[in-house]
Amino acid sequence: MRIGTPGSVALMEPDLYYGSYLRLDKLLEAQELESTKAGETVHDEMLFIVVHQAYELWFKQILWEMDEVRRIFGQTIVDDADMGTVISLLRRITEIQKLLVQQVSVLETMTPLDFLDFRDYLFPASGFQSAQFRLVENKLGLRPEDRMKLGGAPYTSRFNPDDMGSVAASEQEPSMFDLVERWLERTPFLDHKDFSFWEAFQKAVKERLEADRDVVESNPRLTAEEKTAQLKDFDTTMEQYEALFDPDKHAEQQAAGKRRLSHRAFQAALFITLYRDQPALQGAFRLLELLMDIDEGFTTWRYRHAQMVLRMIGRRIGTGGSAGAKYLEKSAERSRIFGDLYNLSTFLIPRADRPPLPAGIVESMRFKYEG
Ligand code: HEM
Repeated sequence: MRIGTPGSVALMEPDLYYGSYLRLDKLLEAQELESTKAGETVHDEMLFIVVHQAYELWFKQILWEMDEVRRIFGQTIVDDADMGTVISLLRRITEIQKLLVQQVSVLETMTPLDFLDFRDYLFPASGFQSAQFRLVENKLGLRPEDRMKLGGAPYTSRFNPDDMGSVAASEQEPSMFDLVERWLERTPFLDHKDFSFWEAFQKAVKERLEADRDVVESNPRLTAEEKTAQLKDFDTTMEQYEALFDPDKHAEQQAAGKRRLSHRAFQAALFITLYRDQPALQGAFRLLELLMDIDEGFTTWRYRHAQMVLRMIGRRIGTGGSAGAKYLEKSAERSRIFGDLYNLSTFLIPRADRPPLPAGIVESMRFKYEG
């Protein structure tokens, strides 16, 4: 028993008990088999339910972490001291994602024939209606226009009114993508007195490409065809850089859905990636890496789920009415959120060619210890 402080009325609360703390009464009674209700229990339906419920619990945890990261990034100034917290929460999400992928194998111990014993009871319910999964997608930054329609209707049309409300509301909140973009746009150091990273970077790229072009043109060992092929390659690379350097072309690429980050945010991400050895940029670089890890984690899960579905139901349609595995493969292709961060590698130049940073910037990016 817990006893109140001296002088107060004694509080006779029972000791905290494991099962009540975890609400196991609710949790362990939440497995109601449709096959049992229909009069004949199908053994594997229990696994099917438990696995889905385990996923939903992990989705809940991921949302919990994402909301905290979004709270921190929603501040006008993201304190350096918060960066460590953000990094550890994002890393936690990536560890959970590994479990999400592994869990598919547990479900695959159920064979397609076992599944057929109760599949008909499931129509028209489907993972497509997982509101938490949709919240994760929206809070990460998947836009309505990136989504595939099912039977011409938006993804929200399959929800009950409660889920529809919460999922639609999440579309209006600033996503991790939005917040990270704004944070990137605020990156200091891109301009310092008469130094402009963007101008210096363009100059370095042009010098490098021209030097490489000269090497190809003057190489006597190359055949005429090889020379033409390599010079063509340079032209393609140059075009890609020009599209990067020109704000109007960048805007065109955004409109065509080939780029998503603003021009300024893209520059900042490139700056962080190029100068990541600088102490003050290490946290920012780690963050960009983790965002890619999270994107990759969900893409891996989506393909793994699609493979499992193909194995389980072949080319049949899903219980939610989609084209099944084919729909899922397409959905995996379209659901990357931080694609721009992967594209950064296209524009990296070797360390030796990086424009040197002015001493003033280098000094302000160092951690200083006094005393
Ligand atoms: C036997 C196991 C499973 C089968 C055969 C299956 C099948 C499918 C199919 C066919 C779809 C497409 C929508 C539809 O037509 O229904 C779908 C979507 C989905 N499923 Fe599963 N699923 C299985 C297990 C799971 C599990 C364990 C989860 C974990 C939560 C899950 C989560 C989802 C999600 C989130 C979607 C929406 C994906 C998107 O729209 O991109 N599924 N599933």
